[in-house]
Amino acid sequence: MKFLSPKDLLFYVFPQLRVAKFSFDFLKCSYHLYRNRKRMKFPIKLMVASSVSFLFILIIGFVVFPKVIKGKIKAMTAVVPGNDMRQMFTKVPFGLDFKIYLFNVTNPMDVQKGAIPNLVEVGPFCYSEWKEKVEISDNEKDDTMSYKSKDTFLAEHWEGCVSGEEVVTILHPLIVGMINTVSRTKPAMLSLVNKAVNAIYRNPTSIYLTATAREILFDGIVIDCDVKEFAGKAVCSQLQQSPDLKHISDTELGFSLVGPKNATAGKVFKVYRGKRNSRNLGLIIEFDGKKQMETWTTKDCNRFRGTDGTIFRLS
Ligand SMILES: *[C@@H]1O[C@H](CO)[C@@H](O)[C@H](O)[C@H]1NC(C)=O
Ligand SMILES: *[C@@H]1O[C@H](CO)[C@@H](O)[C@H](O)[C@H]1NC(C)=O
Repeated sequence: MKFLSPKDLLFYVFPQLRVAKFSFDFLKCSYHLYRNRKRMKFPIKLMVASSVSFLFILIIGFVVFPKVIKGKIKAMTAVVPGNDMRQMFTKVPFGLDFKIYLFNVTNPMDVQKGAIPNLVEVGPFCYSEWKEKVEISDNEKDDTMSYKSKDTFLAEHWEGCVSGEEVVTILHPLIVGMINTVSRTKPAMLSLVNKAVNAIYRNPTSIYLTATAREILFDGIVIDCDVKEFAGKAVCSQLQQSPDLKHISDTELGFSLVGPKNATAGKVFKVYRGKRNSRNLGLIIEFDGKKQMETWTTKDCNRFRGTDGTIFRLS
């Protein structure tokens, strides 16, 4: 059995020392060559010169150049005024494909008697989504910007798309949504809501809504708030304050799933511009003036982690 020499043992324990020793030897060798340059023969001089040039190219090519390029790219990605990236960020220069499918319930009355719903997919209903940011303000001091997002949906008639005039039956989003919310947050109010639904929807026979896809998605289904009864009035006055319902007339409101979002500025985002630190590019700091969400039950889930989805930093 062969024993390791003390030096080998040292290298075995600290592998970094090997690199240090190599560098030291290299320096020693260079110095030696430099001292003896007068006595060197031409081929040796040539060899030394080539090695030095090779090393130089290696350093420039693999260390300095990539660093310079990366620095330049990082400077280009910051969303500061005047940058190409800023223009892309504030207005996406093309429409995004946006397709919606609805599920038609073909046996609504049977479901109310306990049958399993029979769902038939209808669609796609096609739109192009144009994303832009409005009411932009920059804050140089902390390298952030604030803006509101505005998405505009335009109907498209691509191949394979259906027109939107199809009549479909879905769970009534407003009735079911209202009852679910109330039973979760204020169950004591359920009987009041029940009376209100009967008043507003004139004693509906089902919790389903039948309308054209276009009405459900964008144009709006009419809620007739011309009611005298107390519960109905109470609920209607709440609905009338909701920004998500369209005011058609004094007593009529329009409800749709995507309509309220169309061409309407949303709530304020505050994000990093990524000029000072490119790793922060686009990261959300605040939304609607809040530093975290209130949707979930744990602090970790409520954290903002990432961008609004229209920009990503270089990894
Ligand atoms: C949806 O289902 C109903 C039956 O409940 C039917 O009359 C209607 O034609 C269906 N709509 C489409 C688009 O298939
Ligand atoms: C969305 O709003 C824009 C601008 O008001 C309008 O031109 C467009 O028709 C709307 N889209 C749909 C699908 O209704």
